[in-house]
This record gives sequence, C-alpha cells and structure tokens, in this order.
Amino acid sequence: MTYEHILVETPVEGVGVVRLNRPQALNALNNALMRELHAALTAFDNDPAIGCMVVTGSDKAFAAGADIKEMLGISPTQIYMTDSVSENFAFRYRKPIIAAVSGFALGGGCELALACDMVVASETAVFGQPEINLGILPGGGGTQRLTRAVGKALAMEIMLTDRRLSAQEALHYGIVNRVYPADSYFDEAIKLASKVASLSQVAVRLTKDAVNQAFETSLHEGIELEKRNFWLAFASEDKHEGMSAFAEKRKPVWKHK
Ligand code: COA
Repeated sequence: MTYEHILVETPVEGVGVVRLNRPQALNALNNALMRELHAALTAFDNDPAIGCMVVTGSDKAFAAGADIKEMLGISPTQIYMTDSVSENFAFRYRKPIIAAVSGFALGGGCELALACDMVVASETAVFGQPEINLGILPGGGGTQRLTRAVGKALAMEIMLTDRRLSAQEALHYGIVNRVYPADSYFDEAIKLASKVASLSQVAVRLTKDAVNQAFETSLHEGIELEKRNFWLAFASEDKHEGMSAFAEKRKPVWKHK
C-alpha cells in the first residue's frame, strides 16, 4: 500500500516503523494521516514477522497536534463521525508500540505519544496540551491519560494554562521511559523495540493486555485477569521452551505459539 502522509519501514528484524511525514505542517494530524497511521499499524499488527512497532515523527516535531486548519471547517457531526484512532490505541493493536518523540508533541501529538505503550524521547522533546488556547479541550484521550499519568494538579495546569513539559520533566513525571540526545533517540527506540521483538510474541501480547487492563478494572478484577493471562501463557509452547532453555543454559528459540 502507498501512503501520502506517512513513511513505513522495517529497519531491523521484527520492528515496524511508522514515521509521520507532513513536514510542512509539523506533522499535524489530519484525518487522512490518522487513517494511514491506523492502516499501517494494523498491517504490522497482523504481520507475523513484526514483534514491536515504533511511531515517530521528525526531529523538529513528533506532531504539533490535530490539524487546526482542517478542524476549522469541521462540523460537530463530522467530528462525531470521525474515528479518533488514539483514543483506543491500547486495545486496537495487540503488539507493543513505542513512541520515539523529538521536538513538539502537542495536543493530539502528546495524546498519540501517551497512547503508545512506551515513550523514548529526545532531549528536545516538548509535551503539552495547548487546546485551551483554541477554545477547545483535548479530544483524543488527553484529559484521561495525562491525568492518570501525572496526577490531577499537574494535569489541570498543563491543560488549563498550556504549561509545557520538557523531556526531563516528562521523564520525572513518568510519561517518558528514557531521554537521549537528539542524534540518538531514534536508534535507542529501535534498540528497545528490537529487544521486545526478540521475545515470545505470545508472552508479550498477554503482558501488554494485562498491564493495560490496570487502567480499566478494579484491583481485584485486574488480578483475576492477570491470572487468566498467566494460565494462558502456561498453555503456550513458548513457556515450555523458555523454561527448558533456562534449565539447559541456552538461549530460547521462540515459536510464538
Ligand atoms: N495544525 C495545522 N497546521 C499546523 C499546526 C497544527 N496543529 N501546527 C503547525 N502548523 C503549521 C503552521 O500553520 C505552519 O504552516 P504555514 O507555514 O503554512 O503557516 C507550519 O506548520 C509551521 O508552523 P509554525 O507555527 O510556523 O512553526 P513554529 O516553529 O514557529 O511554531 C508551534 C511551532 C508548534 C509552536 C506552532 O506551530 C503551534 O503552536 N502549533 C499549534 C499547536 C497546537 O495548538 N496544537 C494543538 C492542536 S488541537
């Protein structure tokens, strides 16, 4: 499939990269780009050769938000009928997704990064939700995910006053896993994705599913779900292989079964 607003590549074995590519608009997320992003992630999710995905932008901008110029002409009905891809990222794609973020991650760009499973940032990354300046509020999960991630007081400040977080602050508040210099963050994100891709895809999926359920359930329900995923892992050939390899002091050869 050919895309207009994204670039798709597999730079190393097992890792699928989607690069947002609207440099003239700092990767503003218009509907066409979001449709392409969803199509590309779905294709990687369904590709048995891929174990982990990376979403990235340019060094200047991961994404400067939803496309304001496009939204200007959109009616309430149109926005209601538009599928907001990042709202449901956690359950749409079963393989882990790492955001590799440099430069602006604002509005929908910040929401997109937060919807991913891990975030690797460049020192230049800036996270924020400036929608209040446009007379609106975050609409891609920001009020919920950011609040769960950083707590109410800071989330309110970010969304009510357009307070921006530097990469180091984002690391401090736990919305970023790691921060690297601008010339190495992407390679480091690929290394992290490669590590995930080298593991049993069965165990990886069950783990991602269980962790994401922590945001959806009571503690009791979440622990019950974890137990079920744990039992399911015990039914996999990879469980037998992983434990045999440990006992035999060799590297496991995963079958993803
Ligand atoms: N939607 C549509 N176009 C956008 C955009 C967005 N969210 N963000 C940037 N652009 C466009 C600009 O309009 C400009 O296009 P032009 O050259 O045709 O005028 C181009 O991208 C470059 O942006 P510019 O503002 O000139 O770059 P800058 O380096 O001076 O400033 C930002 C960068 C990110 C601070 C600034 O672009 C900005 O505030 N963007 C909007 C952020 C936002 O409110 N996001 C939430 C949206 S809900």
